[in-house]
Amino acid sequence: MPPLDWKTLPRPIVALSPMADMTDSAFCRVVRECTPQRPQASGQLPFPVVFREMVSAEAVVRGNQKTLGMTDIDPAERPLVQQLFGADPATMAEAARRIEAEHHPEGFDVNMGCPVYKIVHSFNGAALMKEPARAAEIVRRMKAAITVPLSVKIRAGWSDPRECLDFVRVLEDAGADLVAIHGRTKKQGYSGKADWNIIAEAKTRVKIPVLANGDVHDPAQVPEALRVTGCDGALIARGALGHPWFFLHAQEALAGQTPTPVTLAERVRVVRRHADLHAEQYGERGIVTFRKHLAWYFKGARGAKAFRQRLVTVKTRAELDAVLDEMLVASGFSVDSPSLA
Ligand SMILES: Cc1cc2nc3c(=O)[nH]c(=O)nc-3n(C[C@H](O)[C@H](O)[C@H](O)COP(=O)(O)O)c2cc1C
Repeated sequence: MPPLDWKTLPRPIVALSPMADMTDSAFCRVVRECTPQRPQASGQLPFPVVFREMVSAEAVVRGNQKTLGMTDIDPAERPLVQQLFGADPATMAEAARRIEAEHHPEGFDVNMGCPVYKIVHSFNGAALMKEPARAAEIVRRMKAAITVPLSVKIRAGWSDPRECLDFVRVLEDAGADLVAIHGRTKKQGYSGKADWNIIAEAKTRVKIPVLANGDVHDPAQVPEALRVTGCDGALIARGALGHPWFFLHAQEALAGQTPTPVTLAERVRVVRRHADLHAEQYGERGIVTFRKHLAWYFKGARGAKAFRQRLVTVKTRAELDAVLDEMLVASGFSVDSPSLA
């Protein structure tokens, strides 16, 4: 696979955002399978680029088997960006070096946006936005340790959304190849609205490509998010949960076409396929951790209260298949594309 080059990747870049416990290998494969590829010029990369969930650099360097297993890559997922979190520049560099030597992801990303207490209390995630010198050192050390591009995912700020305006420059000067900005502060967490205007301002401060993130929950919003932010592309997180067709529909929206409808039969087919890949990754007992995806796939379904209740408590694959079979023949049951918009 040719290297992932953020500068020359066809615009707009609409990529799957990293989500802990969600953007694992199984989900990344489902997203790719639900996105028909354009006829490609030779050397062009499949899309969308997928960002894998964050892993702890410290755990990688310690040789933690569970964490190392999370960095395995199926060829169907490429091009793939592996996200790392950590606070120590040397450890971050060493973790990236080891993962690159073993699995060759097409890029790395540093999590400088996670607001969760157990991450930020030890200077990880969004806390790095308060430590620009440390953040820059992480970028420099990682760049020196790897041969593929390095991106950084940040928030608008810790408490003030204007903090990203200087911080993106710090990252660019340190050698980052791309910045993705979630337009909320750490303090906001997930409340309020993502500020696309501040992302637009940050985009004008740097020459490296910038991806907008936050509240692009419906594919029809993609053209508007790109217009407002002026960014090179967008990172899509919750909008893709239960909706791996997001990237197909985004392409259609960008081309001014109406979205290809997702029939119930197609939804059920993809749920079964996702359940197969999830079981491949976690074993048959993984069905319990698959429930969170089921809740997203059938969010907003009409006439389905009883089905939903059964879906989120399934204990075996046979139980899941039985509920899905019943859904297919039930009358008065329908699912719109789940949307948080
Ligand atoms: C369940 C979940 C897990 C997340 N895990 C990560 C993560 O591992 N790394 C990261 O940078 N952001 C993570 N995020 C943040 C998202 O990537 C994204 O920045 C945020 O949800 C805003 O985008 P959205 O409005 O499209 O959802 C996570 C979000 C959710 C909902």
